Amino acid sequence: MKKIYLETFGCQMNVLDSELVETQLRALGYSFTPALDDADVVLYNTCSVRQRSEQKVWSRLGILKIRKAEDPALVVGVIGCMAERDGAGLMKRMPHVDLMCGPSELDQLPALLENHLKTGKQQHALAGNNSRRTKTLDHAREDPDDGLEALDLARSFSPYEQRFQAYVRIVRGCNKFCTYCVVPYTRGAEVSRSPQVILEEARKLTDAGCLEITLLGQTVNHYAYAHDTQASTSTGPAKQRTTFAELLGLLHEGLPHLPRLRFLTNFPADFGDDILQVMRDSPRICRYLHIPAQSGSDRILQMMNRGYTRDSYLELVGRARRIVPHIQLVGDFIVGFPTETDADYALSRSLAEQVRYKNAFIFKYSPRPGTVGIKRYVDDVPEEIKRFRNNDLLRLQNHISHELNRELLGQVVEVLCDGPSGWGGTNAPSDKDSLIAGSAHQSPVELGATLAAGLSRAGSGMRLDRHGQPYVAPQVTAQRPPDWVQLSGRTTFDQIVVFDGPPALTGRILPVRIREALGMTIFADLAEASDACRTGG
Ligand code: 5AD
Ligand code: SF4
Repeated sequence: MKKIYLETFGCQMNVLDSELVETQLRALGYSFTPALDDADVVLYNTCSVRQRSEQKVWSRLGILKIRKAEDPALVVGVIGCMAERDGAGLMKRMPHVDLMCGPSELDQLPALLENHLKTGKQQHALAGNNSRRTKTLDHAREDPDDGLEALDLARSFSPYEQRFQAYVRIVRGCNKFCTYCVVPYTRGAEVSRSPQVILEEARKLTDAGCLEITLLGQTVNHYAYAHDTQASTSTGPAKQRTTFAELLGLLHEGLPHLPRLRFLTNFPADFGDDILQVMRDSPRICRYLHIPAQSGSDRILQMMNRGYTRDSYLELVGRARRIVPHIQLVGDFIVGFPTETDADYALSRSLAEQVRYKNAFIFKYSPRPGTVGIKRYVDDVPEEIKRFRNNDLLRLQNHISHELNRELLGQVVEVLCDGPSGWGGTNAPSDKDSLIAGSAHQSPVELGATLAAGLSRAGSGMRLDRHGQPYVAPQVTAQRPPDWVQLSGRTTFDQIVVFDGPPALTGRILPVRIREALGMTIFADLAEASDACRTGG
């Protein structure tokens, strides 16, 4: 049977889509290989949020063109947002692409592949326009056996796969139409999945040994599922709605053995106290809120069509901190939006200073074809200014993150051990520490930027940490037993912690005592279970 190489770009939603596509194709007998050269079928699951994400795929497709000329039997497929956004352009520029499948049509991918293998002809399944897509999604809502819903439902749950973390989709698509964003055009209208189906999926994951579930949606707080119930009272049929707060409560209660429940991403408007109260009252819901501001300037927020102001955003931040003690906030910013002045940028900077995010992802504005932004506004902020603002905000955020991490020194926190860490061998940061900005955890779409200042100075030969500061090796405490390796784990606030221990601790939740916070990396030692203290959900 054919071997598939599948590479995923972009957000957690794409990671989940790739997992579901893989499940579906494995069930049909295909196997997967991590080696591109070994594959009979190459699939790229693509992202269109910024031009840079698309460029990576263009260049990979360019290379495959040469290989395909030598090996015409090779099958090349582009799935996800880029296929949906620019199917026609892709076919024209890259005629060697055999398959194209939009994110709303992924249930059709096996049929496309089979058809191509039978006929040798190019195959595509793209929603094409909003009306058809909306119809497809409306259908998905009414009929749980609809293809798209079936894609999520077809997920496999093997206790032997040893997965400790999983994503579960709760809302598809987005209705917000922020002027810079391509997502409503590629993923279509917002549709909430039924709470029963979500609970069932999460329960199967938990039964298979999963310890952390992240609920996914572009705007999870807009989750609203309308049940058509036939009330047997004289008042006639009653329409009952499940809100996001209710869904969280239902999952917390219905999954008593799940230690960690998280959710991504929140929209800063329409965020009720009910959600915060459920977070406060549910000890296994992580006290972690990813809530992108995008800008601190009301004028820019209005041009972005975000529907809130700096003050109302800050009001939400205050409310979240008041209702949910110890909550940690994570943000996104776009710098260099059309017409952004130094004064507008200064407002974003001061917002980051005021909020003190645990972490923030910072992106340079990228005009996207098809959006209102590209039609309405000229991309008039010069690249050097975008880059300067990007690096400046990154430096500020890294400084804040470092300060927040240092507050943890000496504390015992619980981490979910992900396995051997990527640092290599010893409990000290490698040079990678100076190359990655923000957090070792992947951003909502991808790591927003590398810390260019760190990068260029890292080239000078001096070893630097992520802030571009001279690297100081952390003290390595007691001699470690020979079978111990360096492990990494995540706190409930999604901070990466590196510690030494036996590999068998992988997939366990353990107490560790924080010893050192260098740049964005936290170093710790295993602690006794009795030392554990709760620092949040
Ligand atoms: N340019 C730059 N950043 C963007 N994002 C979305 N669209 C664009 C764009 N056109 C960023 C936003 C969003 C994150 C997922 O990606 O900050 O929150
Ligand atoms: Fe894009 Fe998020 Fe705005 Fe939706 S809410 S349009 S996904 S930035």
